[in-house]
Amino acid sequence: MRKILIFAAILLSIYGCSSTKELESSQKNNLQVNLDGMTNEKIQFELPKLEYSFDSLEPYIDKETMQIHYEKHHQGYLNKFNDALSKVDKKHKTVKDIMKNISIYPESVRNNGGGFYNHSLYWENLSPKSESPENLDIYKEISKKYGSFDNFKKEFSSLALSLFGSGWIWLSIDRNGEIFISITSNQDNPLMNISKQQGIPLLAIDVWEHAYYLKHQNKRGDYISSIWNIINWDVVNKRYLDFINSKK
Ligand SMILES: [Fe+2]
Repeated sequence: MRKILIFAAILLSIYGCSSTKELESSQKNNLQVNLDGMTNEKIQFELPKLEYSFDSLEPYIDKETMQIHYEKHHQGYLNKFNDALSKVDKKHKTVKDIMKNISIYPESVRNNGGGFYNHSLYWENLSPKSESPENLDIYKEISKKYGSFDNFKKEFSSLALSLFGSGWIWLSIDRNGEIFISITSNQDNPLMNISKQQGIPLLAIDVWEHAYYLKHQNKRGDYISSIWNIINWDVVNKRYLDFINSKK
């Protein structure tokens, strides 16, 4: 009987040690996870909500293009952007600050972060209820810079057609308050510190073929001509005024 009791005590002792070690190890791991969470802030962006339905930009942009563009392309850029950010030592918390300092980030952040940011601007500056911009400050500014609003549209369209391959066409404002039209390749944008012409985007138009091919096939000119029917000039004007007011 005594032998049995001694054996049970030894077993209890071994089991007890093992449990304590597991507990300590588990606590250490949890602590490590928590500390990692505190020191490595998790930044994940989300897809902005569309303020209109997929079919509401017809006949200028068709429903199927809108749905694929938003749910597949934009979502794809967002997923890859979040994934790319999870692998870098993040230094900036907002997408704008990431764009402004893009030169310190890897190409995966540049391409997918640009794709995420650019498309967010694009959806916002389109609208099924496009109204005349004639009474807006941005209209006066554009007319002053380009001689007339029609001249601006011609110059914008012509530059869009000149872009080789995929990219974007922009109306932006530089740090001196001068508006300008520019094109960027792939998913670059004027906010990036690597862009030739840098500024705050006011109007973003996607000229990748996926933005228009189902409706307009290879006729980029037709897509650009039709896009003027669905521009949300209130949004463009607000971006312009936000910049002007920030300088006051
Ligand atoms: Fe796109």
